[in-house]
Amino acid sequence: MIGLGAWLPPRHVTNAEICSRLDTSDEWIRTRIGIAGRHAAEPGTATSDLAVEAGLLAMKSAGVEHVDAVVLATATPDHHIPGTAPTVAHGLGLPEVPAFDVTAGCSGFLYGTALAAGLLHAGTCRTVLVVGAEAMASAVDPDDRATAPIFGDGAGAAVLAAGRPDEPGALGPIAWGSDGSHAADLWIPDGGSRRPVHGTAEAGADRCIRMQGKEVFRHAVRRMCQAAQEAATAAGWVLRDVDRLVVHQANARISATVADTLGIPAERVPSNIDRVGNTSAASIPLLLAHAATGGDLIAGHRVLLAAFGGGFTWAATTLVWPDDVEALV
Ligand code: COA
Repeated sequence: MIGLGAWLPPRHVTNAEICSRLDTSDEWIRTRIGIAGRHAAEPGTATSDLAVEAGLLAMKSAGVEHVDAVVLATATPDHHIPGTAPTVAHGLGLPEVPAFDVTAGCSGFLYGTALAAGLLHAGTCRTVLVVGAEAMASAVDPDDRATAPIFGDGAGAAVLAAGRPDEPGALGPIAWGSDGSHAADLWIPDGGSRRPVHGTAEAGADRCIRMQGKEVFRHAVRRMCQAAQEAATAAGWVLRDVDRLVVHQANARISATVADTLGIPAERVPSNIDRVGNTSAASIPLLLAHAATGGDLIAGHRVLLAAFGGGFTWAATTLVWPDDVEALV
């Protein structure tokens, strides 16, 4: 990893604003989820707009003006057709590079990173920009208290370059998987090919995110623990040597349970969910950038990353924090 950037849209949405519309409370959102506020893109601002901002920062951080490919992880594309990554590449002034979307929910950034690592390893590319970006507000039902307090908008991006596996900044082996039998536990029911919505409006169609929170919570803990353990072992690490555990910011109680189960002390588990909420595919790069700029990630730190999301999907990998990357936010 040679560059890192993150971008949050300026508008901050407090719990008070959420509570003015829903039967919930600031106290419930803080204690049950760990969120005090989140950011929301203004109407008219799309995922690609957020992705371009983060991508520009990541490329500036890397000191590069060109990358050989753009991988965009998102669950909230600008449109069903076409993919959003070409729009991002165009916005970055890279109009002819290969660019494609990865749809793996909140695990998307780590999935994209694994794909990029494969492209670098095969010699297909020398540099790849991996972006995780979400305009979650576009998919959330503002009247659904099970989801509206949770999700936030944002984007994070990393430039990956070919290098040696033993040098700082090198990504370790990926441990990943999926279980499609849980597709309906976190989904947008209508508007896809299974339940198409034709025309501009269809009575009863549901095109908002719906979630079975308890199921998601249970599986998120189990799968992130499993994947993190597998990734650490594959990298030749033991868990007590992990300096930082970077967990997808879904719920502060999920992160705490994962850390407890793995035996990693709370002071080694950075968090930004209190101010950004669950930003899905943007969560991991946003947290890396915030932890790095806040001085909580330093050169040589052994970082274990884990994510879980809709699908279900999950992924974990390792990273030795580089000594010459200045994250830009
Ligand atoms: N405000 C106030 N009360 C709420 C509420 C809200 N926003 N949402 C649910 N409740 C109520 C429920 O109705 C229920 O009331 P009841 O006991 O009278 O039936 C009670 O709180 C407990 O609900 P439950 O769903 O059991 O809460 P929970 O402790 O599981 O927390 C989540 C709900 C959504 C916060 C939690 O399940 C969660 O974080 N799940 C994972 C979400 C996630 O990570 N999603 C993205 C994955 S990548």
